[in-house]
Amino acid sequence: MSEFHRGRRLRRSATLREMVRETEIRPQDLMMLYFVAETDDKDFRKPIGSMPGQFQLSLKQLEKQVGEAVASGLRSLMLFGIPAHKDEKASGAYDDNGIVQRAIRMIKDKWPQLLVCPDVCLCEYTSHGHCGIVKDGDVLNDPTLDLLARTALSYAEAGADMVAPSDMMDGRVQAIRDILDAGGHANLPIMSYAVKYSSAFYGPFREAAESAPKFGDRKTYQMDPANSREAMREAAADAFEGADILMVKPALAYLDIIRQVRDSFDMPIAAYQVSGEYSMIKAAAQNGWIDEQAVVMESLTSIKRAGADLILSYFTEDVLKTL
Ligand code: PBG
Repeated sequence: MSEFHRGRRLRRSATLREMVRETEIRPQDLMMLYFVAETDDKDFRKPIGSMPGQFQLSLKQLEKQVGEAVASGLRSLMLFGIPAHKDEKASGAYDDNGIVQRAIRMIKDKWPQLLVCPDVCLCEYTSHGHCGIVKDGDVLNDPTLDLLARTALSYAEAGADMVAPSDMMDGRVQAIRDILDAGGHANLPIMSYAVKYSSAFYGPFREAAESAPKFGDRKTYQMDPANSREAMREAAADAFEGADILMVKPALAYLDIIRQVRDSFDMPIAAYQVSGEYSMIKAAAQNGWIDEQAVVMESLTSIKRAGADLILSYFTEDVLKTL
């Protein structure tokens, strides 16, 4: 017997390394994210400055973009809406003819097999940019639940395959489950942003979705990045209320949380590689400081290795082309 461990034996060739590889990114593990804008300009395709390669798209441009992604093997996508008008009650979110509802109908009509999962939140639709109803500077929990539920139902009726509440109000998974069940959508899954931190990594997204809060921050509803035991309580609450998939967000700075949720819950776990994670990789790559493709694959592999079954990533289209 050899006196020491020869780990290099299994690294000698690409074939061997592939044979013993423990973690793999598959096309079905990746969900792409799109920003669809309510506009009459069919050619509208506005680059998002802080997210090179990402755009706000008109319905027509979204159709083109999704068509190309489907050709590369896209299986699922999430939608964020940029409404033409915002108000205090986020009316655009639960308008049956809202921009996301129209996008869902368009996509399901063209590609019935594509899984469409709209993000359910109010911050893109409120004039103040908060994820709920605001009174005297406070984001009210319970009055917001009804609007979130109506939004989810409206998306379900437009043909969504799954809904993903990202607002972090308490009790929203139950409110959404109840309205979906009552509305004949008992089979529609909910992927909850169960463990969503109040993160500076969302900065570029707020430019992309035009959803930055006009006052204050989201610290009274999103979680403190310092907490991991609290993550277990949030995940347990959403599982109890009827979530089908639990999401952790952001991803790379929270791999420990992904692993803890994975180990504690026998449910599918999703992780969201957020805008800031995307932008940092893009910026470094554009400077020639890192190899973009290699860093993207290494990051996604780490997120899966930590325990995520599914990854929401702005790199999805790029990765599908290389798989
Ligand atoms: C809506 C929402 C946000 C993100 C996803 N859904 C923004 C926020 O909470 O401020 C962030 C996604 C990203 O950074 O890519 N509440």
